[in-house]
Amino acid sequence: MFKFDNLKLDSKVILAPMAGITSFGYRKFMSQFGLSYCVTEMVSDMGLIYGNKETKSYITFDKLDCPTGVQLFGNTPENMAKAVQICEKMNQNIDFYDVNMGCPVKKVVDAGSGSALMKNPKLCGDIVRAMKAVTDKPITVKIRLGFDLSNLTYLEVIDEVTKAGASLVAIHARTRKDMYQGSPRFEEIRGLRKKMKIPLVISGNIYSVSDAIKAMEITGADAVMVARGAVGNPNLIRNINSYFRGGETNEKNLDEQIGYCLELARDLIDEKGEEIAMRVYRGIATKFFDGFPDSKQLKNRLSTELNKCSDLVSLLEEYRLYYNSKREL
Ligand SMILES: Cc1cc2nc3c(=O)[nH]c(=O)nc-3n(C[C@H](O)[C@H](O)[C@H](O)COP(=O)(O)O)c2cc1C
Repeated sequence: MFKFDNLKLDSKVILAPMAGITSFGYRKFMSQFGLSYCVTEMVSDMGLIYGNKETKSYITFDKLDCPTGVQLFGNTPENMAKAVQICEKMNQNIDFYDVNMGCPVKKVVDAGSGSALMKNPKLCGDIVRAMKAVTDKPITVKIRLGFDLSNLTYLEVIDEVTKAGASLVAIHARTRKDMYQGSPRFEEIRGLRKKMKIPLVISGNIYSVSDAIKAMEITGADAVMVARGAVGNPNLIRNINSYFRGGETNEKNLDEQIGYCLELARDLIDEKGEEIAMRVYRGIATKFFDGFPDSKQLKNRLSTELNKCSDLVSLLEEYRLYYNSKREL
């Protein structure tokens, strides 16, 4: 269906890296819906070099049904290459490496990493070249359009990383200045794929099948990346693939959403232990109930009262009873 380097991918949907969300448990849960590949949350090159325990935990994971890439962030070719070498020693389950050239967070940008790299296309190429020199695995990059509208450098960056041997470019169709707000600027990159020699993945506000079709039609991208739009809506992945295979798409239903919400909770508990998992889950569990009637109170309680898995079970059962009683009226 879609391919880069030696990785043959049976899906047009990729799970975007999201710091604080796309941990192993989350990726494992989402992979069953038919992902092309997934990416870890961003991992600091210096964190790996200094042997930081939490940083190392991001690159410790098992094989999934789909390939997993480790996303690294940093600002020098040398340290990014060193980080790759550490990953290679630590985990045989890594399928490829991705370079973060899009993070807009001030601390990251001030250090010259993330979207600050969009200001220096040559350095972007040098980083990819240095990483390629120490691994046979593919290197991909994730970029933005540029730093701001007066500095749209994506074409130069794509050119440099392609020359350096990158296997794929994922582009979040916003500038650093846009952060995560407003409509993605797909028109700015209309027909971009035709100008490229390597596969293009498109990211930005993919909340529905029609968002995915539109983003791919405008840009000519080979695949879409789902991020916020699939949190609590894993069927989005299945529905996008089903559309491209000529199959049917399905609406959300409450029983299924409750089942997914509990399953993801269990995957996160397996990964992080109950206490930490439930704290993290306060920001995720609510998303499964977007669009359901009178779910405001449920969402408030999920985001403030989750301490144990049993809290989750009883809140969901309470809402299920309420929802069914309303439907019977
Ligand atoms: C909470 C959060 C964390 C993110 N962390 C990362 C990250 O670690 N690396 C990265 O390349 N992009 C990161 N992103 C950007 C997403 O991968 C994606 O490109 C962006 O959210 C646009 O897609 P969306 O509008 O569909 O959410 C993050 C986004 C969010 C909302």
